[in-house]
Amino acid sequence: MKSNVPYYKAETIAEKSWMIGNAFVDHSYALCYLVEGRDYALLIDSILGMGNLKEFCETLTEKPVVLVNTHAHSDHCGGNFFFDACYMHHRDIGFFQSSVGQVRKQQIADMAKGMALEEYRDQIEPDDQFADWNPMKVLPLYDGDVFDLGDRRITVVEVGGHTAGSVVLIDPLTRIAYSGDACNGNTLLEFENSLPIVSYMKALLRLKAHQGGFDRMYGGHEIFDSSIMDEAIETVGRVIAGTDDHVESTGILGYPICYAAAKVKDGYERADGKHFNMSYLPEKILEPENDIQVITYQQEKSEP
Ligand SMILES: [Fe+2]
Repeated sequence: MKSNVPYYKAETIAEKSWMIGNAFVDHSYALCYLVEGRDYALLIDSILGMGNLKEFCETLTEKPVVLVNTHAHSDHCGGNFFFDACYMHHRDIGFFQSSVGQVRKQQIADMAKGMALEEYRDQIEPDDQFADWNPMKVLPLYDGDVFDLGDRRITVVEVGGHTAGSVVLIDPLTRIAYSGDACNGNTLLEFENSLPIVSYMKALLRLKAHQGGFDRMYGGHEIFDSSIMDEAIETVGRVIAGTDDHVESTGILGYPICYAAAKVKDGYERADGKHFNMSYLPEKILEPENDIQVITYQQEKSEP
């Protein structure tokens, strides 16, 4: 029996541009976007993999759908496995591949059950609305690459920081930048594959050079005016100078981190009313002197 769970909902945000979130929950935790052109439609991120996203996209467009990920975190790639291939910045591909094969659809269905509104909970099963994380084709992206949809051209800007291979995709036709988790009110730079803060500053300045092309930033969880970028550059500059608020906290993986700007008491917003904020590791501000890979011989442990 086919379930009637409304896994997704879409909202038009601009000409042939949709914001997609989950509809079986009381709040869409993650957001992705579909942009239709003459020749194909570009799906920007695939969120949690709760519901067959490919089938849902086909209710919005008759064009072939090409998938691109803003970065390799699981709340942006979970729906990848309904597709044959994805594009991703080359610096995030290794991280993505390390999680392929690790997740079965039963686990995702169980998570969906846990998040679902009461009325849908009993209808959620590990059926064809869910997919195992099996190997898939991953195509590398580089800064400056262009998705030419035929009548609109979407430019890839590398904004590494949150992850080494985070990208922002700019659609000059609608003046929207699809920004994933690259720059928002809670930009996490506390992960092993986050870049040093000086590298993030360089990336923000690279994005700043494109500011004439967009007004709004549609992210993976939040939407901001493009002026948040200026707040980011100012705040990151203070972190590098050591003059930020340096609020000590515990990161989502349980180790000590800092927040650049003080927040309101018991809340998420910045105490000074600005919008950008970021977490960081105080020992990972400057770039290493020699930012190259050094590959040494490692004896493979033989499996019993
Ligand atoms: Fe992320």
